[in-house]
Amino acid sequence: MKTIVSRLGKTIELRVPQFGDEEQLAKFINGLVDEEAPILINQQQTRQEEKIYLGEAIERVDKKLRVQYLSFYEEKLVANCQVDKGRFREERVGTFGISVVKEHRGDGIGFQLARQVIDEARKKLGIYLVQLNVYAGNEKALGLYRKLGFIEYGRLPRAIAYKQRFVDRVHMYLALE
Ligand SMILES: CC(C)(COP(=O)(O)OP(=O)(O)OC[C@H]1O[C@@H](n2cnc3c(N)ncnc32)[C@H](O)[C@@H]1OP(=O)(O)O)[C@@H](O)C(=O)NCCC(=O)NCCS
Repeated sequence: MKTIVSRLGKTIELRVPQFGDEEQLAKFINGLVDEEAPILINQQQTRQEEKIYLGEAIERVDKKLRVQYLSFYEEKLVANCQVDKGRFREERVGTFGISVVKEHRGDGIGFQLARQVIDEARKKLGIYLVQLNVYAGNEKALGLYRKLGFIEYGRLPRAIAYKQRFVDRVHMYLALE
């Protein structure tokens, strides 16, 4: 079992997704939806929908098309992070995503988890670039990504409808050695 220790000294356990995680995953994503977190999904997900997400996640990890770690504190899911391998001519580009539950943010979990996932993606997926997108104004995520070494390379203007406004979608990349 992989672990990380947060700034406050909490031991966080990392493991790959497993059948049976759908209940925790539904609570996790629906908590983010409830707080209107700056992520793509803005509608409550059912347990059945999470079961489908989970099945796909397990299959992709098994086929070495994804590196993903769920993070648990005292058996509660507190963070989710993944890199997905691209397809066909883009097979050397990975796409990154991360979320941490509100109560555990700012404790260094996101940074350590992201480093672990990106490092493993580099070794297992044969990728040389990681890309992501983030909403303009999401300063916490932008700060995390800059700290990880990501560089902004473009913006899709006013692409995202978020809290009664339209905000840019910021595109970033990280070149791996
Ligand atoms: C973005 C997110 C994943 C960061 O995770 P986290 O565990 O809180 O981040 P960490 O505590 O590891 O902090 C890492 C860096 O992020 C930045 N950061 C974190 N919290 C911040 C805040 N409140 N304000 C500004 N920057 C912040 C800082 O650069 C920080 O480094 P530092 O502590 O050395 O200053 C988390 O805030 C989150 O899940 N937010 C909601 C969902 C989301 O936005 N997901 C990303 C979608 S693109």
